Amino acid sequence: MVNLVKLRDHNYKFISAKPFAPNLGAEVYGVDLSKPVSAAQFGDISQAFLDHQVLFFKNQKEIPPDVHIAFGRKFGELHAHPAAPTMEGYPEIFEIHADKDSKIANGEFWHSDVSCDEEPPLGTMLQIHLAPLCGGDTMFSDMYSAYDALSTPIKRLINGLTAVHESEHIYKGRYADRGVNDTNYIFPTAVHPIVRTHPETGKKALFVNRTFTTRINGLSHEESDSILQLLFDQAEHISHQIRFSWSINDLAFWDNRCCMHRAIWDYWPEQRKGRRVTIKGDRPK
Ligand code: SIN
Repeated sequence: MVNLVKLRDHNYKFISAKPFAPNLGAEVYGVDLSKPVSAAQFGDISQAFLDHQVLFFKNQKEIPPDVHIAFGRKFGELHAHPAAPTMEGYPEIFEIHADKDSKIANGEFWHSDVSCDEEPPLGTMLQIHLAPLCGGDTMFSDMYSAYDALSTPIKRLINGLTAVHESEHIYKGRYADRGVNDTNYIFPTAVHPIVRTHPETGKKALFVNRTFTTRINGLSHEESDSILQLLFDQAEHISHQIRFSWSINDLAFWDNRCCMHRAIWDYWPEQRKGRRVTIKGDRPK
């Protein structure tokens, strides 16, 4: 039996990272994100992010918007969402909000953020400020293990294939109740490999999701639908998943290149609120 926890855990000196589950995630302690992080802590956080794919920063205070933005920028240029409303005065921040009047809550189906972009986000940092009494969890699924667990013949079939990721069917009118008029928006569409290689770890990850991926190029519609269904089922299989229950001011930082996530809207009519900063990624290869 291989000890997965050991294999993905480095010896961090300036943070403490407690594995969340054997396959995916870590809780991070010993960092105060309401202040700028030191270069030494940033080094450990960057390594832990690659090791664990999603980090949950615990025992946090509310992070001022400019500090949250600056923390995101340490990982790269920030990504602008193609459709969602932003925080007043902070176009870099996407406000997550659902209450009794909401028609939708964000991220209710499995996805990798904005995979319909030519260069989909590298990672996303969400801090929750207002949480329901219970519920409002977020689930994450490990796309390395989803790929690894496929049989060799299926791996052979999908390596080299590309798929279309579309967004109009998801975004059009989605944020109307939050004041967005998207009549003249052009919603992004992109073609990506079904199996991508993570640019930093070199590991292969499955890169299709039920929200944005609509068809596989080079196959008939029937073939594409069947293979996509098989891959979605694989990506959403319970053995690759974790489920995170938020405490106020927790910040989750996930790697969209090797995990998917899904927010559970089981708390209506209660409220849930947070702020999200998203970092630009590169073109999947
Ligand atoms: C999202 O960013 O997709 C939503 C995540 C969440 O609200 O937990």
